[in-house]
Amino acid sequence: MRPSLTIPLLFAARSVSWGFTSGDSLARQHVLSDEALVADHALPDVIPGGSPFSYCNQSRQTDLYNISMINFNPQPLYLDRGFGVSIYGTYLKDVGLKATFEMTGDCGSHCKEYGYNHTAGETESWGFCPFHNDTQQLDKKGGCPPVEDFALTSLAGWVMPRYCVPACYNFTFDAKTADGERIYCLTAEVCLRWEDEKMNKWYVDHGSPGANCTWPR
Ligand SMILES: *[C@@H]1O[C@H](CO)[C@@H](O)[C@H](O)[C@H]1NC(C)=O
Ligand SMILES: *[C@@H]1O[C@H](CO)[C@@H](O)[C@H](O)[C@H]1NC(C)=O
Ligand SMILES: *[C@@H]1O[C@H](CO)[C@@H](O)[C@H](O)[C@H]1NC(C)=O
Ligand SMILES: *[C@@H]1O[C@H](CO)[C@@H](O)[C@H](O)[C@H]1NC(C)=O
Ligand SMILES: *[C@@H]1O[C@H](CO)[C@@H](O)[C@H](O)[C@H]1NC(C)=O
Ligand SMILES: *[C@@H]1O[C@H](CO)[C@@H](O)[C@H](O)[C@H]1NC(C)=O
Repeated sequence: MRPSLTIPLLFAARSVSWGFTSGDSLARQHVLSDEALVADHALPDVIPGGSPFSYCNQSRQTDLYNISMINFNPQPLYLDRGFGVSIYGTYLKDVGLKATFEMTGDCGSHCKEYGYNHTAGETESWGFCPFHNDTQQLDKKGGCPPVEDFALTSLAGWVMPRYCVPACYNFTFDAKTADGERIYCLTAEVCLRWEDEKMNKWYVDHGSPGANCTWPR
């Protein structure tokens, strides 16, 4: 059976649970300080496919899964709704056993605005394969761990609202091999609201920071 995951974001009184029926992933950002770092960071600012994901700060061109495109549907994504992600790319090497998948949900670049002095959120670590089970490869029926070659990874999830607060949330998905080598790291900051505006209105009326956000961020 597919694992079911919930990341509770303990933003003091507010929180959202990002529940997955399968696995997941996403996007990035970088700091350019010296020449070496610039060369090392030569990843595209925008990943083709129109998803909210970008590479993480710590992503590198040498990461094992060389991603070429990400599709994310539906957009906008609302609280208490399901979504699907397709990641197209090429594994530069075999992933091997016991790879890990770390998911973080926090207030990202909105922490100050939302009244936090420090990043508030939660991180959960999992095995890589329960979330990358649906990986299609040319010479393999699919499954995990992936081997060196082109691969299409399909993931499905659900945004499970715990405390149902519409706001911007930052999600980071960091996958590494058993040796700690990065497979990929993706991040996304997205505005998650209720599809029914009446549900959002209460928060907006009560001055909840971020409740007026618009997709994607
Ligand atoms: C990116 O990484 C650098 C170096 O590790 C760090 O100083 C910086 O704060 C990071 N930026 C973000 C937005 O996380
Ligand atoms: C990753 O793929 C791109 C094309 O999508 C290619 O130009 C690049 O050389 C690849 N990177 C590595 C490290 O193989
Ligand atoms: C945030 O920092 C301010 C000023 O340093 C302090 O007064 C406040 O108590 C801090 N809030 C939290 C939640 O730590
Ligand atoms: C993927 O998951 C299915 C059912 O959830 C399971 O039957 C199958 O063995 C898994 N494949 C791998 C390679 O783990
Ligand atoms: C999410 O937050 C992390 C650190 O808090 C940051 O490195 C990353 O760039 C943020 N994601 C986006 C898409 O801004
Ligand atoms: C949110 O949007 C509504 C309608 O556009 C506006 O009346 C209200 O002032 C906004 N609230 C905040 C906190 O920005």
